[in-house]
Amino acid sequence: MVASSAGGSAARALARPPNVLTIAGSDPSGGAGIQADIKTFSALGAYATSVITALTAQNTLAVTGVHAVPPEFVRAQLDALSSDVRIDAVKVGMLASAPIACAVADWLEAADIHSVVVDPVMIAKSGDRLLDADAVEALRRRILPLASVLTPNLPEAGVLLGRAVPATVDQMREAALDLALLGPRHVLVKGGHLRSEDSSPDVLCDGREVTLIEAERVATRNTHGTGCTLSAAIAALLPRHGTAPSAVPSAVRAAKSYVSAGLRASHELEVGSGRGPLHHFHALWPRAPQTSTPNG
Ligand SMILES: Nc1ncnc2c1ncn2[C@@H]1O[C@H](COP(=O)(O)OP(=O)(O)OP(=O)(O)O)[C@@H](O)[C@H]1O
Ligand SMILES: [Mg+2]
Repeated sequence: MVASSAGGSAARALARPPNVLTIAGSDPSGGAGIQADIKTFSALGAYATSVITALTAQNTLAVTGVHAVPPEFVRAQLDALSSDVRIDAVKVGMLASAPIACAVADWLEAADIHSVVVDPVMIAKSGDRLLDADAVEALRRRILPLASVLTPNLPEAGVLLGRAVPATVDQMREAALDLALLGPRHVLVKGGHLRSEDSSPDVLCDGREVTLIEAERVATRNTHGTGCTLSAAIAALLPRHGTAPSAVPSAVRAAKSYVSAGLRASHELEVGSGRGPLHHFHALWPRAPQTSTPNG
């Protein structure tokens, strides 16, 4: 039995912290994947639960190995969790293989959870590929129609639509509208990969209207896991924003502010020699003294 319900969960979540689930891969360096999701949920007042789809051997420089969990054991984790714990929102990240994507889709269809944020993770910030062609097709066909919010970066939007990578805000708008035709209720095309020194805008589409969500670009190379963190923050915040149509835009804006603040504080951490993590606990930990390199 799946212990969740669309109608009741938002109301219950007002009285108690929401239980939020991440279904994703592990990042030993802690900046992306399951580890980033658990930090994000915890920082934003949600109780974190997790189902692991794959182990990666990874640091801030590169992914050197991927070891996928057998699909039936992904399903066993999902069933053990949901037979006991009420799930108020789900974030889906790295799915690793087509059979894992299908196992997750089967479970999501039966679980009927109101808020499902899908981050179609395909390529790590280091440039390493995390999803094969069969898995992309399973993601497109089985997972996208179940998403309340789909959060592709620019290369992922290009792959899902089978066309050139969007390179301007106008192309991001067009991509968001076309991705909405594949089934997700909202699409957030992320502008982290835009060639802009001033801004990092995202576009949010509800299938009809497209809204630009502006943010200043933070001058830092500590962008490992920004996408994982943004999608996890949306999943953590959605149950607190209710079920009205305005819930998604307001949760997305709050999630983007959280990511921007984490990027601005990332120089306070000292993690690895490549693309470091953002600071998930920037609002909770004592401020570190300013060093000579202000932006990492
Ligand atoms: N330097 C930056 N300054 C401000 N915001 C940024 C910056 N880089 C990325 N972002 C924001 O971070 C969020 C994630 O976008 P991004 O395109 O980096 O995702 P991603 O490529 O999926 O990340 P990853 O896969 O590494 O986790 C978006 O809201 C984007 O606008
Ligand atoms: Mg990503």
